[in-house]
Amino acid sequence: MTKENLIEMAKDAMDYSYSPYSKFKVGAALLTKDGDVYLGANIENAAYGATMCAERNAIYNAYCHGIQFEDIEAIAIVADCPRPVSPCGICRQVMSELLPPDTPVYLANLDGEVKETSVEELLPYGFVSEDLNQ
Ligand code: THU
Repeated sequence: MTKENLIEMAKDAMDYSYSPYSKFKVGAALLTKDGDVYLGANIENAAYGATMCAERNAIYNAYCHGIQFEDIEAIAIVADCPRPVSPCGICRQVMSELLPPDTPVYLANLDGEVKETSVEELLPYGFVSEDLNQ
């Protein structure tokens, strides 16, 4: 599975977006080391706070199918925006706990622009479980 293929799958996942409020479709595709792909799209709600982002849906989808931290290879996220889509803070926090720090994160838009980053680069000095120990 190439980076380009994974981005294409994330783009296709935009079709599953339920976004009647923002009308902003986002798709995500999480690749495992076994070569399996788990998709996600943003799902909104009239109670806006109940909205779930595409990348979190992809990650939770993978975990719900038994995928674990060490099984994860990469994630791609695509939306129609002027620059490669930038994940929100909550998604960065979730990625920092559920994906290995060096996991490649491919951010893309529909103009074909791609920004390649990593989980640790997206959230420096993040809050982690060890911080709960007093
Ligand atoms: N959204 C995502 O799904 N992922 C991102 O990386 C950015 C934002 C969604 C949440 C909401 O449904 C819509 O985009 C507008 O914020």
